[in-house]
Amino acid sequence: MRKLVVIVLIAFTGLSFYPGEGGSDGLRQAADESGTDFGFAVHNSFFNMEDDDPYLRILKKNANTLVAENAMKPYRMQPEKGNFFFEETDRLVEFATENDIKVRGHCLVWHKQIPDWMNDTTYTREEMLEILENHITTIVSRYKGQVDEWDVVNEAIDTDEENNYRRTVWYRTIGPEFIDSAFVYAHRADPSAVLYYNDFSAEEMNEKSDAIYKMVKRLVQNDVPIHAVGLQSHFWLNEFNVSEIENNMDRIGALGLQANITELDISIPMNEISQETLQQQADDYADIMEMCLDNDHCNSLLIWGVPDSHSWIPNHTDGERGSALIFDDEMNPKPAFHALKEVLDNK
Ligand code: G3I
Repeated sequence: MRKLVVIVLIAFTGLSFYPGEGGSDGLRQAADESGTDFGFAVHNSFFNMEDDDPYLRILKKNANTLVAENAMKPYRMQPEKGNFFFEETDRLVEFATENDIKVRGHCLVWHKQIPDWMNDTTYTREEMLEILENHITTIVSRYKGQVDEWDVVNEAIDTDEENNYRRTVWYRTIGPEFIDSAFVYAHRADPSAVLYYNDFSAEEMNEKSDAIYKMVKRLVQNDVPIHAVGLQSHFWLNEFNVSEIENNMDRIGALGLQANITELDISIPMNEISQETLQQQADDYADIMEMCLDNDHCNSLLIWGVPDSHSWIPNHTDGERGSALIFDDEMNPKPAFHALKEVLDNK
């Protein structure tokens, strides 16, 4: 029945509208025209989809940039030592190339979703540096010119630690210079790739973003090839301050780096989802998009998933929060979609 309504709509209005595509006009064209990289994290189910899956149509109409939500993490890319798995990344790159979409690589070095063999503090410093170099060089060179940018190091700062460095296997075996080395290896493998340090809860001016600023400033002063700081932006409805984010972007920008929004979602307490909170969420998304478009250092905004049904939030909050994305469970555009469209169209 729904299909019939759509066909009738198309016939009478001339609109190319399919359920879930976000109206006749997706966000991609406006994002392209604004010169901003915009898109989504691609869910694991992408890799099993038929060509006509509505999810793929949403990506094509709404994104000029994609990132894999999980598929390019160390545990997927090198599950056994020296044994790389490229199939999924190849597929994503192929889809992106066919549709003239950019790919961001996420992520080369992280303490989570790391294979057990790699998460082993009994390696010597030299052995671990070799593992780091091999992992980064193998992956980045394979996708040279196809993956445009990389989250080289993800979430290495922890302000609960005395010197602010998270006690990961990388830190324990190599020391803080694992970060410098990771950027050097990635740059050697693809000198044109944009290289990021990416982290969460450090979007505004706060203790953690201060620690990140200090760390990236050191990298810049030491001529380490870093080009951007990723502000993940997993926000709670109404609980962030746009001008604070702008101030943080400006100080990162003053170091000559981009300050991009890499994993945006805005979650709502499950028992407070209503027309009113969804409208508030739309306003929040619009404010962030507007800020990014207006800020000289923000060139990219990615949302961490397409429909709410794919979002990591409910699983990681014992079901207490959700509805964080711009398409609902059935992949219909939410008020946040329309708010982004309006902001992009008016730029
Ligand atoms: O693959 C297994 C599957 O075999 C198993 O049946 C299932 C049962 O729970 O788990 C599956 O693994 C899950 C994995 O995602 C793949 O779907 C893990 O449990 C789950 O914890 C994991 O969550 C991911 C999370 O990173 C891990 O920390 C989320 O999907 C992903 O959205 C999230 O992404 C991170 C960014 O990489 C870094 N920034 C924060 C962001 C949100 O946490």
